[in-house]
Amino acid sequence: MRENRRFAPPAALAGAANVTGDAYAAASADRIAFWEEQARRLDWERPWTTALDWRPPFARWFSGGRLNVAVNAVDRHVAAGHGDQVALHWEGEPGDTRTITYARLQDEVCKAANALSELGVRAGDRVMIYLPMIPEAVFSMLACARLGAPHSVVFGGFSAEALRNRVEDARARLLITADGGFRRGRPNDLKTAADEAVAGTGVEKVLVVRRTGAEVPFTAGRDVWWQDVVDRQSTTHVPEYFDAEQPLFILYTSGTTAKPKGILHTSGGYLTQAAYTHHAVFDLKPDTDVYWCAADVGWVTGHSYIVYGPLANRATQVMYEGTPDTPHRGRFWEIVQKYGVSILYTAPTTIRTFMKWGDDVPAGFDLSSLRLLGSVGEPINPEAWIWYREHIGGGRVPVVDTWWQTETGAIMISPLPGVTACKPGSAQAALPGIAADVVDDSGTPVPPGGGGYLVLTEPWPGMLRGIWGDPGRYADTYWSRFADQGYYFAGDGAKKDEDGDVWLLGRVDDVMNVSGHRISTTEVESALVSAPQVAEAAVVGATDPTTGQGIVAFVILRGGAADKGAVLAAELREHVAREIGPIAKPRQILVVPELPKTRSGKIMRRLLRDVAENRSLGDVTTLQDSSVMDLISARLPSASGED
Ligand code: WTA
Repeated sequence: MRENRRFAPPAALAGAANVTGDAYAAASADRIAFWEEQARRLDWERPWTTALDWRPPFARWFSGGRLNVAVNAVDRHVAAGHGDQVALHWEGEPGDTRTITYARLQDEVCKAANALSELGVRAGDRVMIYLPMIPEAVFSMLACARLGAPHSVVFGGFSAEALRNRVEDARARLLITADGGFRRGRPNDLKTAADEAVAGTGVEKVLVVRRTGAEVPFTAGRDVWWQDVVDRQSTTHVPEYFDAEQPLFILYTSGTTAKPKGILHTSGGYLTQAAYTHHAVFDLKPDTDVYWCAADVGWVTGHSYIVYGPLANRATQVMYEGTPDTPHRGRFWEIVQKYGVSILYTAPTTIRTFMKWGDDVPAGFDLSSLRLLGSVGEPINPEAWIWYREHIGGGRVPVVDTWWQTETGAIMISPLPGVTACKPGSAQAALPGIAADVVDDSGTPVPPGGGGYLVLTEPWPGMLRGIWGDPGRYADTYWSRFADQGYYFAGDGAKKDEDGDVWLLGRVDDVMNVSGHRISTTEVESALVSAPQVAEAAVVGATDPTTGQGIVAFVILRGGAADKGAVLAAELREHVAREIGPIAKPRQILVVPELPKTRSGKIMRRLLRDVAENRSLGDVTTLQDSSVMDLISARLPSASGED
């Protein structure tokens, strides 16, 4: 829990770092000029006229400038003579591989863009992408970017129902999916869920990649195989240039209500920050590094740190389809050894899983190519941080803990590997050009040693431009909490230590963080009450040693529904998986006679969390009926189930 050691940057890294300590001074001297300088790392067809147009809470960055995001990620590298450089070392779970150079990537993106045009996609149309971790996911995203058609990638682990909600909210015209992908040694069907999701929606065409070769349902007239339509296209596609504020993607994330929010990102500012932070935080040397971000493209980490940031920086990277334990628990380390990975970016939950599997697993591989390790998704406990550094980084490799969100688009708070003496467990300081603080309830910055809420005090280029179709919710969710100060409210608790470094403490709202995935308590509650057996449900996130938080559900059954113990729990867990996806399955389901409520009827989750974490109960005096907690505690081992 406590770790007071500091780890200074290795001299070799510091001596050749992409970004030095001067960047902080340059950015604080003139923040806007600093970001303009970073924007010049990109190719613009026409320069911007205004760097920042800020009408709180709506920002426009690099107005008047025109660029094509895909050209920046691919074509310009080919034009500069790097066509033969490997962009993607793709590794399928069964062990099949594909090597995709920048020249090949350009061909594939052009073909996909031509195919999408043929299928009727125009600039501004929304395209849903529901794919496994295969290169076509990257081709599809870049083809959309090339056409100015915002994509909305939905993680392949989400259910048909979750996909349908997103398809409808985005009013998408086209869906790109696959017959499936390989996970845990088996083909995992996506097409059946995709069919269920698009039935009766505005989706006109479904483009299907053949990946597993499994028999899947196919609707003539609507469905087309990627291999039939894309492969025959020309590899030439003349790009159009778009305004810096052209929507690039919508990515759905959980908020505090049952309805996920479509976070909208645009082009010029987003790409500027994704590329700059990737350059600064991962210190990428495009000619020598092999970079691997082990996230899924369905999450923002995959958008910013597999697709847009690294490709804009001409990275050579690894992309892996499957799970870390297939066919054996050393799969990640085998991949690091095989490709000579030098920079690895993954999540604390994965690191803790590796810790559980034992030190001897990574010890069996040559990991000497690694020179930098990153972490994202949730607070990393000092023990996991040290393990990562020792057992993966050989005790010599810096670990950068990066804080950011779907909404921020790119990394906001992180050490700089060539500058910062790293503190295990702390994301430390806002990056150059970023302004963050920890404030109390009234919006006043807390002194060193104090705790409160994390806020962002100045607009930043990669910031979300809104919630798709719901400007009111955008203003309300992020900008109303500290409206007087004009601060962005991140929803995270944080403390500032004596050095002024930031330590993230987890969400302060009803959003859980399970294995680095954001899931709202209300989303799971509404899935549970849609089950015929359930009358009422309350869900809390309880501390979990591996996944960060685990979902614990308290349910009241409908009259007539029998408490069949483990059978009922299994049924309800399956129900939630169908409604949202397996990631939202409760770890534990407790059948209770009542829920603790305040006199105004609000469920007191704090007390339920005490129960779920086996703590003695906190203050119960505001309960409408304080005997309820005795009833709940008495029912504790009632119906629980674990995978
Ligand atoms: C949490 C993922 C502590 C946080 C990029 C945030 C973190 C939410 C960290 C965003 C970190 C992410 N330390 N907490 N380094 N990184 N979080 O939108 O609660 O999936 O608000 O973006 O994850 O999750 P999201």
